[in-house]
Amino acid sequence: MNRLALAHLPTPLQKPERLARALGIDLWIKRDDMTGGPEAGNKIRKLEFLLAAAVAEGADTVITCGGLQSNHARATALAAASLGLGAVLFLRTSDPDLDPAKAPLEGNVLLDRLVGAEIRLITPATYRERNAVMAAAAAELRAAGKRPYVIPEGGSNGLGSLGYVECMAEVRRQLDQGLAGGERFDAIVHACGSGGTAAGVVLGAAAHDVAPQVWAMAVCDDAATFEQIIARIVGESRAIDASLTGAATLHVNDRSKGPAYAVSTAEQRKGIIDAARLSGLIFDPVYTGKAFDGLTRLAKSELSGARVLFLHTGGLPGLLAQGSAFSGEIG
Ligand SMILES: Cc1ncc(COP(=O)(O)O)c(C=O)c1O
Repeated sequence: MNRLALAHLPTPLQKPERLARALGIDLWIKRDDMTGGPEAGNKIRKLEFLLAAAVAEGADTVITCGGLQSNHARATALAAASLGLGAVLFLRTSDPDLDPAKAPLEGNVLLDRLVGAEIRLITPATYRERNAVMAAAAAELRAAGKRPYVIPEGGSNGLGSLGYVECMAEVRRQLDQGLAGGERFDAIVHACGSGGTAAGVVLGAAAHDVAPQVWAMAVCDDAATFEQIIARIVGESRAIDASLTGAATLHVNDRSKGPAYAVSTAEQRKGIIDAARLSGLIFDPVYTGKAFDGLTRLAKSELSGARVLFLHTGGLPGLLAQGSAFSGEIG
C-alpha cells in the first residue's frame, strides 16, 4: 500500500505519574498530539495513506470537509501545501453569512488561511449532503482542467484508517522494546468523531496484540450511530487488507459527548484544567477533553485499576480558538 512519510514517528509512549495516581489506573499516553508541528494530531497518520493515493493519481488539489475549526481540514491543508497541492475545504458553520473572509482568523482557520487553502462555508443542512457537495466541487474543478482528489470527512474511510492499524503496529514495537513495561494493555481509550481512528485501532489492536478492548468516546453523535459507521469502515479496511481478520472488542461510549459537537460541559473543562496541572498534558474541549472526561468515569467503573493506553489525538488549535469558554473555570 502506498504511504507517504508525513508524520514524525514513533510518537512517545509516556506515563503521566501524578495523573495516573489521581485516576487510580496504570495510565499510559500515546502522544499522537506529537505526530508533527502545526499539522500534528491523529489525522496525519490517515493522510499518509490518503495523500499517497492522491499523489499516485496525479491529483493537484484535494477536497475535504469538517466543522469550521476542523483539525482534519487543517491537517489536510497543511500536508497538501507541503506536497505542493491545493486544498478546498468545505467547513460547516451556523453563521448565515457564509462569507469565509469573515471567519475569525483563529485556531485551525488561521492555519488553513496561512497555507492558502480555499475555504467554502456551508450550512449544517448542506453539510448533511457533504459527499454530494464535494463530488460536485470535484466535477467543477475537473471541468476547469484541475485534478481533484476527494478525502471524506475526518479522513475516515478504509484507506485512511490503515494509519491507525500502523499506529498499533508502532505501539507493539514499542512494547517489544520494553517500553511502557512491555506488557499489552487492558484497554485503549480515545476520542471518536468520524470513526476512522476507532476502526483502525480495533483492527490494529487485534492484529498486533496491543489490547483486547477499545473504548471509542463519542464527541457528538450517539453510540449506535458510531457503531454502524465504524463497522462500515472496518469492512472497507478489510477489503483493502484481507489479513485484518481479527478485531478488539469495541465499546462506543457516548456518556461524555456533552451538549453538542465542539460544546463542552463545565465539568469537562475543569477536567482539562486538572489534567493540565497534574501532567502538563493539554487536552482540547472538542475531542480529547471529552474522551478524557470519559476516561475519568471509566477509571471509577469498567476500567477501575486497569492498565490503559489513552490515545492523545491532538486538537490544540481547537482549544486555542475557544479560550473564552474557559474564563469561568480558569477565573
Ligand atoms: C483531535 C482529534 N481527536 C480525535 C478525533 C476523532 O478521530 P476520528 O475522526 O477518526 O473519529 C479527531 C477528528 O476529527 C480530532 O481532530
